[in-house]
Amino acid sequence: MPERFQAPRGTSDLLPEDEPNRMRLLNAGREVLGRAGYGSIETPIFEDTALFERSVGAATDVVQKEMFTFDDRGGRSITLRPEGTAPICRAYIEHGMHKLAQPVKAWYVGPFFRYEAPQAGRYRQFHQLGAETIGSDSPLVDAELIGLLDELLRGFGVAALELRLGSLGSPGVRATYREELRAYLRDHEADLSEDVRSRIDENPLRAFDAADPGTQAVVAEAPTILERLDGEDADHFAEVRALLDQAGISYEIEPRLVRGLDYYSRTLFEFHSAELGAQSQVAGGGRYDGLIEELGGAPTPAAGWAAGIERILLAAAPTPEAPASDVFVAVADESQKRRAAALVAELRRAGLAVETDLAGRSLKGQLKHADRVGAAHVLILEADGAAQVRDMSSGEQRSIDPASAMEELAGR
Ligand code: HAM
Repeated sequence: MPERFQAPRGTSDLLPEDEPNRMRLLNAGREVLGRAGYGSIETPIFEDTALFERSVGAATDVVQKEMFTFDDRGGRSITLRPEGTAPICRAYIEHGMHKLAQPVKAWYVGPFFRYEAPQAGRYRQFHQLGAETIGSDSPLVDAELIGLLDELLRGFGVAALELRLGSLGSPGVRATYREELRAYLRDHEADLSEDVRSRIDENPLRAFDAADPGTQAVVAEAPTILERLDGEDADHFAEVRALLDQAGISYEIEPRLVRGLDYYSRTLFEFHSAELGAQSQVAGGGRYDGLIEELGGAPTPAAGWAAGIERILLAAAPTPEAPASDVFVAVADESQKRRAAALVAELRRAGLAVETDLAGRSLKGQLKHADRVGAAHVLILEADGAAQVRDMSSGEQRSIDPASAMEELAGR
């Protein structure tokens, strides 16, 4: 027996039956973001490994444990993109997009790759729909991005949504805070997990998303960066909150919110859905004012988010499907096959959704199949050149003049 292959672990096939809901989501994204002036952008599925090391951060789980990295045949280190923000910043710099009217607003959708332990809502190939606004530090940007994401998720019917909001301040405050946190964690080293302890120097903020009870008890008492925000950082965060209040968007302030990517500064946010189990984060994002400069561009403030398509689909009720085709062309006699094929093509060119039998079924079998594909009407071509039309919802059937069948069906 030849070996039977399966899709690689953590990946899945998107079958035709999965598509209607997915397309509805992509269309909703295009509409919500298009109305707000976002243009779509696509970057390659793989990039230089160093791009992600430099942006996502060498000390993060994403870079240390989750990237699909390999050498290409020319010996270059390549990585399947684990996220979309760094590639878009790379494209912004590469194409001199600072010369366009600022901020540049772009949205994207596509597959992303992380070598994670697969479980419900967590895959090795998943899809994100994201938006980035590059070239403005205004709190209006943060609030607009959050508002659009809220509109998209609610409009699509994601249940039990909760918005968590925090701020990391700018690099100066963060450096001082990190020192304070390091000192605090060292004082409580004995209660921390091995993983957190080994990274106190490298990445002390990691302690905040550790799962073990010992570390959690220590961080519950730790100083938070929100308590240390001052001056412009505090004003920026206050303005983002005021704009969300004004828009009627409710949120929880999460003083210990950290995200698994190093490029963030100031505003951070996540949408969670209680409908989902352990992987409750439907979307996440924030401001990344230092990233473009870090990647070799001029200092350029920016913010954005990405939502997990699979998680949105898990957390929203699917909508019922409308009938799939307008007309099913059936033949009562073999001799009509060619005539049927020509008519099918003609009706499709007239804009109708048309199906026909491709498997040599009897007339009874064709009618059954028409029902299965959700056809609204069946046009039956008879041996003597006559035709009948059957309304599939009422079962009513009548003769129709074959010459006018085309106009009549197209005009429905
Ligand atoms: P992220 O929080 O790492 O952010 O991912 C965004 C979303 O992608 C998550 O909320 C989740 O829904 C989905 N996601 C992540 N990993 C997986 C996985 N293994 N399986 C299924 N879904 C997953 C980012 O990627 C940032 N680039 C967002 C951003 C844009 N920040 C600023 N601009």
